[in-house]
Amino acid sequence: MIRSRIIGTGHFLPERVLTNKDLESLCDTTDEWIRQRTGIEQRHAAKPGEGTSDLCTPAARMAIESAGLTPADVDLLICATTTPDYIFPATACVIADSLGMGTKPAFDLNAACSGFMYGLATADAFVRSGAYKTVVLTGGELATNRVSFRKRDTAVLFGDGAGAVVLRAEEGDRGVLTTHLWSDGSGREVLWLPAGGSKIPVTAQNVDDDINTIHMKGKDLFRRAVIEFTNAVNVALEAAGMTFSDIDLFIPHQANIRIIESVAERMGLPTEKCVVNIQKVGNCTAGSIPLALSQARDEGRVKDGQVLLLASFGAGLTWGSAVVRW
Ligand code: UT7
Repeated sequence: MIRSRIIGTGHFLPERVLTNKDLESLCDTTDEWIRQRTGIEQRHAAKPGEGTSDLCTPAARMAIESAGLTPADVDLLICATTTPDYIFPATACVIADSLGMGTKPAFDLNAACSGFMYGLATADAFVRSGAYKTVVLTGGELATNRVSFRKRDTAVLFGDGAGAVVLRAEEGDRGVLTTHLWSDGSGREVLWLPAGGSKIPVTAQNVDDDINTIHMKGKDLFRRAVIEFTNAVNVALEAAGMTFSDIDLFIPHQANIRIIESVAERMGLPTEKCVVNIQKVGNCTAGSIPLALSQARDEGRVKDGQVLLLASFGAGLTWGSAVVRW
């Protein structure tokens, strides 16, 4: 049976670090509140002039090198992001060009914080269908310039960063075992960036009103996140014919340490089986899962034969889960 196996991982974080203390001087918040309510201690922030492609390109290059391949070996590149370089063309085209992938296909995918899960299901389907043998999937976000320091609830949450994986068609029982995706557009105004698309253009007035920055109903999102994360991991395990005790590593989207702890507790998973990097990077939305995976692999936490459970929840609303045998 052909499966898509993850054979390479990579990540990139911009050099500049914004600590909670730095944010105290930019908006009405405190280090203590941020740590207690989110778990975040710091986040990375890109420089003016940098775009999401500047984060995803080095992450993808690292993933390709770690797979022992060159960009010429890649058949398709997918970029999951809600903060593309431009409204068009796709950031994936910019990344593919920077990598030197010639005229290979490349496209963006927007599923917000679930972007990596949607990208994984898409890449896996392409690989298993036989359409493409080697796919690079990168998730990245540059959200620190999409928040308003007049809105302290969102200003402290997001960080810039990217991760990437290389998936390759392989016979055997290693690779992506299951993927499941969900959406509920009736919750689109729970977490959104209203202006700048076709419906609400950017005007001087709505820039003044902060309509071109991220808006969030945090409490509603939190409650729904815990419920859907739990449902998503249950469906994934049932489809894989596994129980929580079969899971070696749980790599969730990093939105809030309290969401991760609550889901892990419901699953009965010990903390050493959870990959948590939110303290150092904040919420990197579509970049969050591949970044955490790549860092965990660099730390020697991901070993051959292990079973990984991935899950996300975010704007859309969208959510998803996957089981991967390494
Ligand atoms: O990645 C996509 C998915 N994202 C999520 O799932 C995020 C889910 N939501 C959350 O993580 C949490 O709801 C937040 C971290 C955003 C907020 O935490 P909370 O415990 O739900 O706080 P809250 O919104 O109920 O606010 C409690 C208080 C309020 O003050 P009052 O009304 O009690 O006086 C807020 O104004 O905390 C205040 N507050 C802050 N105080 C200091 C909100 N943000 C801040 C802040 N610093 N940054």
